[in-house]
Amino acid sequence: MKDVRIDRRSFLKGAATAAVGVMGLPCIVPSSALGGAGSVAPSDRITMGSIGVGGMGTNNMRAFLTQPDVQVVAVCDVVEASNEYGHWYKKGWQGEWFGREPARKIVDAHYADKTGVGQYKGCRAYVDFRALLARDDIDAVCITTPDHWHAIPAIAAASLGKHIYCEKPLTLAIAEGRAIVEAVHRHGVIFQTGTQRRSDQQSRFICELIRNGRIGTLKKAITTIGANNKQAPPRDWRPMPVPEWLDYDMWLGPAPWAPYHKDRCLYTFRFGFDYSGGQTTNLGAHAIDIVQWANGTDHTGPVEVEDLGGEFPEDGLFTTATKVHFRAKYANGVELICRTEQDGPRRFEGTDGWIQIQGNKLTCHPESLKTSVIGPNEIHLYESNDHHRNFLDCIRSHRETAAPAEIGHRSVTICHLGNIAMTLKRKLRWDPEQEHFVNDDEANRMLARAMRSPWHL
Ligand SMILES: NC(=O)c1ccc[n+]([C@@H]2O[C@H](COP(=O)([O-])OP(=O)(O)OC[C@H]3O[C@@H](n4cnc5c(N)ncnc54)[C@H](O)[C@@H]3O)[C@@H](O)[C@H]2O)c1
Repeated sequence: MKDVRIDRRSFLKGAATAAVGVMGLPCIVPSSALGGAGSVAPSDRITMGSIGVGGMGTNNMRAFLTQPDVQVVAVCDVVEASNEYGHWYKKGWQGEWFGREPARKIVDAHYADKTGVGQYKGCRAYVDFRALLARDDIDAVCITTPDHWHAIPAIAAASLGKHIYCEKPLTLAIAEGRAIVEAVHRHGVIFQTGTQRRSDQQSRFICELIRNGRIGTLKKAITTIGANNKQAPPRDWRPMPVPEWLDYDMWLGPAPWAPYHKDRCLYTFRFGFDYSGGQTTNLGAHAIDIVQWANGTDHTGPVEVEDLGGEFPEDGLFTTATKVHFRAKYANGVELICRTEQDGPRRFEGTDGWIQIQGNKLTCHPESLKTSVIGPNEIHLYESNDHHRNFLDCIRSHRETAAPAEIGHRSVTICHLGNIAMTLKRKLRWDPEQEHFVNDDEANRMLARAMRSPWHL
């Protein structure tokens, strides 16, 4: 693992000269300005860059910004600034501005406020993530790009020794996940997948109950995921001119070339199969991840998957499943059902009881499970109560995070298997060790996606 301190000292020396001599504005935040982090000297801070600062990326960036031992020094987005992000399904949505310039301003305003200097210009904005990654003064990156843009920057960041917080669903295709896991191991960097239920107390408690046999032997897990929350544009949609605030070719990146339409990109990329696995992966990555945790199968996966009536649109701009319904079976006999049901339950059934969560409400049988205490000699699962903080703590301790790449990869693999089974409409046998389908060339061809030149893994 890279020793971040040595690199930083030499960088800060150069940066200090540049800041005073060239810009005349500070770009080093004094320790005293970081509140509770008065003791965190600049040389001990984790310097971060945020790649993808749309809806969730801006949230992530804000979460890191408030960490006392972090200094955000760079942001990157192919959008300069736009209020056309697709949150219009929210009542009263007025349009919020996201993109690299709003993000840069948030960072600079944050540190200006902290330092009390009135002006601060220490955060640089990039269009191309490769320029951000090339900076050797950046220790860690947060990747919150659309799903088709996770694997390439994550692998590039790992190969440059940067620690990575990467949003879920980890990948667009199963083969990408294995490549990320290998890159992370090869370069010894810390990796956190953005599946924040791994840092949620209730999820951990439920998984500990199940792992300690409180409902007997686990037999069935039912995960429900929300329906598509955006209406597809009419089937006779027409291409739109590319807005001047967007580098569209870079937004498409490894995805096949396609004419611009606003509903292809910001937020709604979730419903285009070239960029996402739809709600199967978008929401399934969270829900199925907890089944993996409860089942103790974090480093493996099911052995069988079959369609139970998934539906895809016949044509139009949105191409991901409109109805998700599939079943996977594990070697230990546990059956996993995943289906579309708005605000539906997540349920675990065992030989001696069941546990159900609907919204945040937990119901169970027997009732006494709710107050059950996990004894000192029982199985205690990884404890984290703040997903972003856990990532930073692990960078310092070199410990594995709550949701390392292997876990993120294995969970989203099941979502991808579901999509493949729903597409092929037949029962498929899966070898979780070799990570391929058994005797099924057609299904195996769906393990990877072709990438548009010059992009490749
Ligand atoms: N953990 C969670 O609960 C959670 C919640 C929401 C979203 N997410 C995940 O975050 C990711 C982004 O989702 P979103 O809703 O923020 O989408 P979004 O469209 O609002 O933001 C994505 C941003 O990435 C930018 N981008 C695209 N290509 C880029 C590139 N090559 N380089 C730099 N920036 C690029 C886009 O311009 C956009 O600003 C998705 O993978 C999504 O699943 C996770």
